[in-house]
Amino acid sequence: MAQRIRKAIFPVGGLGTRFLPATKAMPKEMLPVVDKPLIQYAVEEAQAAGIEEFIFVTGRSKTAIEDHFDHSYELETTLRERGKETQIAAVNSWMPRPGQIAYTRQQVPLGLGHAVWCARNLIGDEPFAVLLADDLILAERSCLKQMVEAQSATGGNMVAVMEVPHEHTNRYGIVDVARDDGRLVDVKGVVEKPDPAAAPSNLSIIGRYILQPEVFDRLERIGRGAGGEIQLTDALAELIRGGKPFHGLRFDGKRFDCGDKVGFLEANIAFALARPDMTEAVRKILDGQS
Ligand code: UTP
Repeated sequence: MAQRIRKAIFPVGGLGTRFLPATKAMPKEMLPVVDKPLIQYAVEEAQAAGIEEFIFVTGRSKTAIEDHFDHSYELETTLRERGKETQIAAVNSWMPRPGQIAYTRQQVPLGLGHAVWCARNLIGDEPFAVLLADDLILAERSCLKQMVEAQSATGGNMVAVMEVPHEHTNRYGIVDVARDDGRLVDVKGVVEKPDPAAAPSNLSIIGRYILQPEVFDRLERIGRGAGGEIQLTDALAELIRGGKPFHGLRFDGKRFDCGDKVGFLEANIAFALARPDMTEAVRKILDGQS
């Protein structure tokens, strides 16, 4: 039986340069899709997967995130006085309980691998999840829950994967496939942003991971990789060489790259269309009728 996944890391220390000036004073993970910040979608996905400890690796301007996951007494009192009970639920019903959230700071943005490594003491010696909030997933069932269920059968490490156009492999971490049953992929290697000509497949890793704690040792040793950053993908390659099971899961759902402006707009449209109170109005705009 694989060990239960109780803890999740949310790296939110990136500079978000593609969204400047919006990200000048707040992390890109606070950008809203319809009416909810990206980070809240990721936390709710983790809650649905049974996560009990939420570890944020922050960078500059972390206060917006801390405030979002805390009570706002003034706001709640005003809403109560005005009888706006539904809105009170909207501001606090989804919050993790006191003591379930921890923050640590990535003092220098040396890359995603470095951000994950910064959380090593908060994770300790147990498997854990990593969720990148800028990869937003529209799914009937939490993507991380699908992974937790699959990983409880396979053990070892797991990443979420999806097919990308072959000419775009140089934008993603790409897996080298040993076996593929259509849903679960046995991974024999991973490469960060390979040129299409050299890419071992067109299956890309997206921002959901279940990792064994050995990854921290690997992160400590690998040094800087592509783009001068400490790359999580390089540490994953080392884990695969270490021989533990490593799987990719083709999850049910659609992923939106909200670190990119076009992907972010597309997510807003898709999530708005999926909201019964907005579907009709948004459809009209798209059809050019309003
Ligand atoms: P990105 O590659 O999207 O980088 O990070 P970025 O800095 O956030 O954004 P751009 O490219 O400048 O617009 C992927 C994920 O890794 C986190 C980010 O917060 C995001 O969730 N990250 C990246 C860190 O936590 N620390 C880092 O040093 C780099």
